[in-house]
Amino acid sequence: MSGQDVDEAAAELGKRIARARRPCALTGAGISEESGVPVFRGPGGMWRERRPEDLATPEAFRRDPLEVWQWYDWRRGLIASACPNAGHRALAALEASNPAFTLITQNVDGLHRRAGSRRVLEVHGSLWRVRCTACRREADDERVPLPLPPACGACGGLLRPAVVWFGEMLSPTVFGAAWEAVKSCDLLLSIGTSGVVEPAASLVRVAAERGTSILEINPRPSALSSIAERVFPYKAADLLDRLKPAP
Ligand code: APR
Repeated sequence: MSGQDVDEAAAELGKRIARARRPCALTGAGISEESGVPVFRGPGGMWRERRPEDLATPEAFRRDPLEVWQWYDWRRGLIASACPNAGHRALAALEASNPAFTLITQNVDGLHRRAGSRRVLEVHGSLWRVRCTACRREADDERVPLPLPPACGACGGLLRPAVVWFGEMLSPTVFGAAWEAVKSCDLLLSIGTSGVVEPAASLVRVAAERGTSILEINPRPSALSSIAERVFPYKAADLLDRLKPAP
């Protein structure tokens, strides 16, 4: 892939975004890859040879809360020392230039917010929030490292990450807002997601079924590539960094 290719692709993408009245983006782990945060499915995605499906479940937490917390604490440490990249910043700039833009992310890393995005629908929650398994109180918690296993400041109960695990419901408020956004958008960017985890992947499918153009940014084919009108086979930060700000 030559630099020229990426520049041409960025010019094409920029025109499509500029023409859209209500653009929307769904991001996945791939957008944070260039910040040094490993993706889940792909090279370097495993932690101690465990798959996310083995650790990110209520059963895993019941069986071994310490191991699950060790995984989250490792990720929190990694992300705390990472920085948002040009891809995150480009989406924050898009939000600033178009009040009708909606950003939906499956990522729990908080990097979109750190890049300046204010209206982010974090459909899988946030690594930087904790919830008490006893009194249910939720709070921001940015301690790195955490004392493991962490205890609730109010009642002493065991805390868990305020993220959505496999087998759990997404927040109806947050997911409902994402659903409304994809139903009413006129362009959907699917960025850095394998598209295999539901119901998030359905957000892209529902938009496609309504005839909305799907533009995918992913260096590798994904489960959503076949419904994309156009696949930009580039790293997200590489491509998005080349978008020209709206005049
Ligand atoms: N730019 C764009 N895409 C990239 C990049 C990059 N630099 N690097 C990797 N990718 C792509 C990969 O090709 C892959 O398709 O990002 C995707 C990452 O896929 P996953 O690891 O499956 O991440 P994601 O789709 O976000 O996972 C969904 O699964 O484990 C759960 O809750 C977790 O939110 C997560 C959900």
